Amino acid sequence: MDAVRVDEAETLIVNGLTAYQMLHTKAKVRAGQTVLVTGAAGGVGSILVQLARNAGAHVIGTASPRHHEALRALGVEPIDYRDPDLAARVRTLAPDGVDAVFDHLGGASVTLSYRLLNRTGTLVSYSIAAALDGTRPILLDFLPLLAKLAFWNHLPTHRHASFYDIWAGAGKPDSAKREAFRARTRTDLTHVLNLLRDGVLTAQIAARFPLAEAAAAMELAESSTRTAPGKIILAP
Ligand SMILES: NC(=O)c1ccc[n+]([C@@H]2O[C@H](COP(=O)([O-])OP(=O)(O)OC[C@H]3O[C@@H](n4cnc5c(N)ncnc54)[C@H](OP(=O)(O)O)[C@@H]3O)[C@@H](O)[C@H]2O)c1
Repeated sequence: MDAVRVDEAETLIVNGLTAYQMLHTKAKVRAGQTVLVTGAAGGVGSILVQLARNAGAHVIGTASPRHHEALRALGVEPIDYRDPDLAARVRTLAPDGVDAVFDHLGGASVTLSYRLLNRTGTLVSYSIAAALDGTRPILLDFLPLLAKLAFWNHLPTHRHASFYDIWAGAGKPDSAKREAFRARTRTDLTHVLNLLRDGVLTAQIAARFPLAEAAAAMELAESSTRTAPGKIILAP
């Protein structure tokens, strides 16, 4: 493989692998399909939208208005996630429902995400970010999510719902499963880094700081008004 910049590659190790496997392994998104990405300007979301566009899908993404222009430039139809008419807006863009939803919020969002699917659609849930405020044990929100996903899968429909975990299989005592995890990670990460090298994926780097300015980097990371999406890189 030709060289890719280390800091650019770093932005894709976890988020790129997550987005790639959710899109291609879990939801198997094809050209012409319509997908909904929650948090489309976030670390995982921003890669999901690029991969989905590259696969030929129509992409609807929820994000704060400050990111809408950048999302439109990527060919994404942005919707403000605070818009009380969010569901109606999605249904206007995809009257029969969407083929896949990638939901990082859990709670009420994941229920809405499931309702926005078409008859054969796939929901991929991958976090309960809406509940991660540190005020209660995460199992109190995670277990109901898993119960919901299992319940939906038992309904007599052609829809599918599942939780994605990048580490699934990594800690298995069964060495065949562990080896399968390693092989899958190696293969998929190679695809992701090739897409970066080929210019299909753009690494989203919001800013670079020297290590000595780590406090300023944290301040920027936590700022709710920053417009440049992506990772903040600390260089030694
Ligand atoms: N399951 C796995 O294997 C796996 C792998 C990787 C990451 N994750 C998890 O996935 C989650 C997202 O990670 P990330 O790196 O993408 O986070 P991130 O970069 O912080 O992005 C999160 C995005 O969420 C958006 N957001 C906030 N409130 C929202 C709402 N109510 N509705 C829709 N979007 C909202 C924000 O959008 P704006 O900026 O537009 O306001 C932000 O861009 C984290 O909880 C992470 O731990 C799971």
